[in-house]
Amino acid sequence: MVVVAILAAGRGTRMKSEMPKVLHTLGGKSLLERVIDSVKPLSPSRNMVIVGYQAQLVQAAMEYLPGLEFVEQTEQLGTGHAIQQLLPHLQGYHGDVLVLNGDVPLLSSHTLLKLLQTHQKNGNAATILTAHLSNPQGYGRVFCNSENVLQQIVEDKDCTAAQRQNNRVNAGVYCFCWQDLGKILPYLQANNAQKEYYLTDAVTQVAPVMAVDVENSQEIMGINNRIQLAGAYEILQNRIKEKWMMAGVTLVDPSSITIDETVESQTDVIIEPQTHLRGNTVIESGCRIGPGCLIQNSHIGKNVTVQYSVIIDSSISGGTHVGPYAHLRRHVEVGEGCRIGNFVELKNTQLGVRSNVAHLSYLGDTVAGTQINVGAGTITANYDGVKKHKTIIGDRTKTGSNSVLVAPLNLGNDVYIAAGSTVTDDVPNDSLVIARSRQVVKSEWRITQE
Ligand code: UD1
Ligand code: CA
Repeated sequence: MVVVAILAAGRGTRMKSEMPKVLHTLGGKSLLERVIDSVKPLSPSRNMVIVGYQAQLVQAAMEYLPGLEFVEQTEQLGTGHAIQQLLPHLQGYHGDVLVLNGDVPLLSSHTLLKLLQTHQKNGNAATILTAHLSNPQGYGRVFCNSENVLQQIVEDKDCTAAQRQNNRVNAGVYCFCWQDLGKILPYLQANNAQKEYYLTDAVTQVAPVMAVDVENSQEIMGINNRIQLAGAYEILQNRIKEKWMMAGVTLVDPSSITIDETVESQTDVIIEPQTHLRGNTVIESGCRIGPGCLIQNSHIGKNVTVQYSVIIDSSISGGTHVGPYAHLRRHVEVGEGCRIGNFVELKNTQLGVRSNVAHLSYLGDTVAGTQINVGAGTITANYDGVKKHKTIIGDRTKTGSNSVLVAPLNLGNDVYIAAGSTVTDDVPNDSLVIARSRQVVKSEWRITQE
């Protein structure tokens, strides 16, 4: 049985932010959400989050996650003091407590499971996760004796110059036998450079204690400032991109591409430079996306190409070409084999198969049939200043260049609209509409000069 306790009460002064550190986002999720995600496979019996600085805000941000218990640490007197707040809540508890720092977001569940198993198999009082870092600056240094028994954890700020040379660091992740920890917690002292109650002091006051090295030291990266936040993002991105490339996706110039871990792709997809894939996006096989695209929460069907375009909350069916410079900005559904071209904006619009909107158009709140052709510069006037109105366009209908479709409007099947028309009334099937003034030519009009 294991209870999880996540330390999330600190302000994170080094972030230079009004927002609590654990709410800063890393690849679309807050640091704290990432830590909570990493413990899920351990099926903890309780998930306790210690909050303090802007506790309300942290609690509100996590509201959508079920089963979290928030314990308030009103004054932030150190990580040991934070864990002291659990004492009244865990009275009589006989199991283990897994303690995690809310600002260590890259831990894998595999590492945590291994730590817990080592702890339980050896019947330890405490087991801590450690790593050897080429640059250990800022981390607590871990000292063991020749039998590999933990002697001391010395915070960076409390280290002598010689101690600072030790590159074995404390990851900020611990398993404790609660009975053992609970006994010594009330007696922690704040005899250190920061005048704080350190949880790391507790580790050396129980026995037996083991230190376990993490397999990949990148996992233990703690986020204390925005440089480290950017560093963690890079690590996260590299993980995702390596996985994609190994799974059969070509990334051209990977460093210029960003991909959220929530995005999915099939094989034989080519992602070109400066492309950003976010949220619940799915890309089917044979697509070529980029250069220069932002695609968010969208479904891209097989063999679609997209260049220099923005697609948000939309779905594109197979074989369609989008861009360059198209903006599909919310609830757009494009059928198979369509062409959405240059400087075209679509919003809340459905387009049937093999339809073209190729140049300089805006379609909003429109339901269009199959094989339509929207002439260059066609615009739906869907907003009267108060409400949005709908435009319906039948199958095979063609709008001439520079047509204005004033909604609400219903155009039938096989309708032709003459170029430059402003269409205000519904049009039945098979009609030609000309809604503009006739051309008048006054010949020999120019006054000839003497
Ligand atoms: C801590 C460890 C250090 C380790 C490093 C790993 C201690 C004393 N030091 O240092 O050995 O190498 O993490 O990243 O534990 N917090 C509270 N209440 C408090 C103070 C902090 O909840 O009173 C929370 C913070 O919000 C944060 C976490 O504890 O999520 C760690 O605090 P931080 O101040 O960042 O500790 P470090 O100096 O990084
Ligand atoms: Ca930290």
